[in-house]
Amino acid sequence: MKNPDVRGFFDPITATWSYVVYTDGDTDKRCAIIDSVLDYDIFSGRTRTESADRVIDFIKTKGLEVQWVLETHIHADHLTASAYIKEKLGGKTAISKHILKVLKTWEPIFHNEADTPANGYQFDHTFADDEIFAVGPFEARIIHTPGHTPADTSYIIGDAVFVGDAMFLPDVGTGRCDFPGGSAEHSFDSSRKLLALPDDYRMYVGHDYPPAGSRLPQCMATIKEQRQSNVRVHEGVAKNEYVLKRNQDDHGKEVPKLLLPSIQVNLRAGEFGNATAGVQYVKIPVNQI
Ligand SMILES: [Fe+2]
Repeated sequence: MKNPDVRGFFDPITATWSYVVYTDGDTDKRCAIIDSVLDYDIFSGRTRTESADRVIDFIKTKGLEVQWVLETHIHADHLTASAYIKEKLGGKTAISKHILKVLKTWEPIFHNEADTPANGYQFDHTFADDEIFAVGPFEARIIHTPGHTPADTSYIIGDAVFVGDAMFLPDVGTGRCDFPGGSAEHSFDSSRKLLALPDDYRMYVGHDYPPAGSRLPQCMATIKEQRQSNVRVHEGVAKNEYVLKRNQDDHGKEVPKLLLPSIQVNLRAGEFGNATAGVQYVKIPVNQI
């Protein structure tokens, strides 16, 4: 069978890659959207939908039918547009069942039990580890790849692997591991799971931060390229060596600008939660992070 077509959309503000996974020209029009972005201005509290609308326009132009609206993890640097996209195009929202740990971690900080179910039911589906599902004609599989957060999940769809922040392109490395529940040890183990996939599988990353002046943002490297040249986890790097360097580099890092708005909205699958007199709010806990 032909492998899936993948279209990436880059948001330069948050350096995020969103993806549509589909089959061009096939009679089967079902597709998956992975890691969408809702534009959010932290100063005005205003949302915009340019990033999500680019994805929606592409889907309409291609005549695709949204089967899944997937998240690789609870992002800390951008708000998901999954609720907006679902409202416009339908599809089932889904994330790893390990999100329950992330919900538990943040509940004492946001006190969000009134509008953020602790059981994950705000998502249409929560995936078990190694669960098999389908995207159009393609078999898809979940691999639990924690480290950046405890709930990071990679999606293997045909020969395409969507890794979120578990790994970045070879010259960038891996995602930071200093968020609550993050673990450099787990991040290393996750990279080893991913690098055990076949050489020619295509790995699509959740962000790209090209080293200054080096190249334009890109989204894909093969497993073989990653195994040979990922700066942090290439073949031959020892776990203790990786963990030491990852922890040193993460130490004292600033939190992402959109951390607090992102986490609370993303834990609600893209909703802003209960309104007060018709007005929705983002809640900022003081001295908690
Ligand atoms: Fe992330």
